Amino acid sequence: MPVAPTSPAAPSAPGRPGPLLLHLDSAADGPDASVSRQLTELFAARLRARRPDVRYRHRDLAADPVPPLGPGLPRLGRRLERTGLVPAHEVGAHTRDAEEAREWELTRPLVDELLAADLVLLGVPMYHFSVPAALKAWIDRVGFPGVFTDPAGGPGLLHRTRAVVVATRGGGYGPGTPREPFDFQLPYLRALLENLGVPARHLYTVTAELTLAALVPHLAHLRGTAAHSLATARARLETLADRLAPGAPAPTPHPERTS
Ligand SMILES: Cc1cc2nc3c(=O)[nH]c(=O)nc-3n(C[C@H](O)[C@H](O)[C@H](O)COP(=O)(O)O)c2cc1C
Repeated sequence: MPVAPTSPAAPSAPGRPGPLLLHLDSAADGPDASVSRQLTELFAARLRARRPDVRYRHRDLAADPVPPLGPGLPRLGRRLERTGLVPAHEVGAHTRDAEEAREWELTRPLVDELLAADLVLLGVPMYHFSVPAALKAWIDRVGFPGVFTDPAGGPGLLHRTRAVVVATRGGGYGPGTPREPFDFQLPYLRALLENLGVPARHLYTVTAELTLAALVPHLAHLRGTAAHSLATARARLETLADRLAPGAPAPTPHPERTS
């Protein structure tokens, strides 16, 4: 299904900060070797060229890792679940010792960034059928209880947030392929983002499959399919970047899975 045509987003009103693009990469490989990094960079550069007023935050979760959880964070989370969830800006007041305070200090900037983002761009390789541990460490912190809940009982605080997930994998996991049931990367990320409160209609997934076909002899016969998957992913991201400027009317979500 083609992306529905939309008009380009209007620039921000004078004096108003532009929308925030939060770009997260999680590949262990650098930009020369990582397909997800190349694809997220393509999207971000194109979007920023189209919307020069966009504020841009890039987090490299592999080069600048988020520390794994210490015991203070789940302890603090459990207590708030018991006594009543509070918004992110109030959590600090509920810490009871230095360990909890330190854990929350490591967590709050990540939560605040996600709350502030209009569009989240995630570059995610498949590692052992799932996502890299570097991304999981970020997830375990931003998933802190209650911080995306509206204390006034309204819709979740991420209900306007859009997310573009760029998923890469060495093999093929498309619909109907033998490895489809082994895909714990994209279904997981969809479930996770929806659970955080990003509506399914604001979630766009782009997949480049068979990235190892060029290297692995037993996948050599799939090189043409791999090239097609990559070209489709690039074209899809270019279209999305042109039309998915934060604040613009949403194009039709089109979860794309190539095999
Ligand atoms: C630690 C590790 C685990 C991997 N596990 C899988 C896997 O389970 N399935 C798969 O198809 N490819 C797997 N691959 C291959 C990567 O998914 C593939 O090389 C992908 O292109 C890496 O993402 P990137 O190019 O965006 O960095 C693995 C690679 C690494 C380094």
